[in-house]
Amino acid sequence: MTASHPLQEPGISSRITSPCILIIFGATGDLTARKIMPALYNLVREGQLPAQFASVAFARRDKNSEQFRCEMKEKITAFSRSGPLEEEVWNTFKEQIFYHRAEFHDDAGYESLKRLLNELDAKLGTRGNRLFYLSTQPAFFSLICKKLHQHQLLYDEAKIKHRFSRVIIEKPFGHDLASALALQQELRKFLVENQIFRIDHYLGKETVQNILVFRFANTIFEHLWNKRYVDHVQITVAEDMGVGTRGRFYEEEGLCRDILQNHMMQLLALIAMDPPVDLSSDAIHNEKVKILEALHFCPANLFQQTAVRGQYGPGYSGGRAAPGYREEENVSPDSLIETFVALRLFIDNPRWDRVPFYLRAGKRLPKKATEIAVVFKSPPEVLFTTPQMHQDPNVLALRIQPDEGISLKTNCKVPGPSSPIQPVKMDFRYSSYFGMSAPEAYERLICDAILGDRTLFAREDEVMASWKLFTPLLLRWQQETPEPFPNYAAGTWGPKAADRLMATDGHQWRLL
Ligand code: BG6
Repeated sequence: MTASHPLQEPGISSRITSPCILIIFGATGDLTARKIMPALYNLVREGQLPAQFASVAFARRDKNSEQFRCEMKEKITAFSRSGPLEEEVWNTFKEQIFYHRAEFHDDAGYESLKRLLNELDAKLGTRGNRLFYLSTQPAFFSLICKKLHQHQLLYDEAKIKHRFSRVIIEKPFGHDLASALALQQELRKFLVENQIFRIDHYLGKETVQNILVFRFANTIFEHLWNKRYVDHVQITVAEDMGVGTRGRFYEEEGLCRDILQNHMMQLLALIAMDPPVDLSSDAIHNEKVKILEALHFCPANLFQQTAVRGQYGPGYSGGRAAPGYREEENVSPDSLIETFVALRLFIDNPRWDRVPFYLRAGKRLPKKATEIAVVFKSPPEVLFTTPQMHQDPNVLALRIQPDEGISLKTNCKVPGPSSPIQPVKMDFRYSSYFGMSAPEAYERLICDAILGDRTLFAREDEVMASWKLFTPLLLRWQQETPEPFPNYAAGTWGPKAADRLMATDGHQWRLL
């Protein structure tokens, strides 16, 4: 048993998960190989899954369980955070992996799935508990839920209490506000909200969970956390990788739907929310949703002044030539899809009135780095007035990844008689302090879904509030021709317009 977590729903005190079967739809995709299977392997390795557990891969490709196991062994070896594969763990885990070939629309496939699950219940003692993980293209979410319902694979929670059936839904949940509402309406025909787990893997990251602990378990920051002391906030999600093999997905979604609408909104909500009344899932979601509903672009609807989009062209990444987005696999040669976004947002509430929140995210930037920086107001220049005594504003930077940690920039007198001032950093690093590799987000989230804890999953109203903010922008982008794409070279920090957005306000992006 692992220690209970401060952000765990009260009443769920044990991390020992119930017997259950995890059924992964779209299991031959990248996510299963890179994230889900390595996460399950590590959960088995750390004894966080019960012996009465199985995973069933539901996918269209023709293969059998033995072939699928061999493929997964390779992938776990390549992607597991815990180093070389431990044969003993693998030998236990592989017996819990099954492959079920079927089409998503094919009734016979769901009937044979039902038979397989019943057999596994009898053989392994999984007690009828089901966790369906929809790791497919978003277009299949409602079809799969409908079929699961038609074949009695989803239980009516009002009547059946002794076993559970839950559905994990990958992002993006909808394509805009209307489609998200329609999807939600479809799902609610077959499921109650408690059965729906909208995954946003950023919430499973240790450093993201720590935001609330850092803010509310320390007294020294909360009274500074407002418009009186904070000048602005910068949130960056930078990736050095391009879209790789996900060209088709990107052509449909683009970066705003992939990163901004979900991951970055969650980061922003956690950094800006008021303290929840307690640590229950609903209390936390209630505060987050207030922030998401209070967000707005300013001046409203003048997106050209508050939102910048970009697309990478050829350039260099990690010292090697890198193709432009339009040259990637399954991408149209004249695509207008964005791979970079920078925004200025405001939160309409007393705490944050007129404090700009700058967000930027992009593919093929110079490095991978996710950071939230709270930039405090500059001290009044009344005491230290000579040029050598220039004081930088204090900055509290929460490094979400990599090199996870927190640093506080302060001004310091350089030793010696001439007394110039220089900024210095107080730095905390998870790796040197705790000395262990944090569990992967998916490990935490899969366990939480088995436990029925929805704290770290997005609630319906959060998703809708976020779509309400972004839908007008996305619509405008669809109607307007962007400045000529590509407008930044791979391996650079995005289009110049992103710098101008900051410069207009007398700010600049932090050097990461
Ligand atoms: C996923 C996006 O949700 O998050 C990807 O679909 C992105 O495009 C990934 O690369 C980033 O996740 P992380 O955990 O590496 O920051």
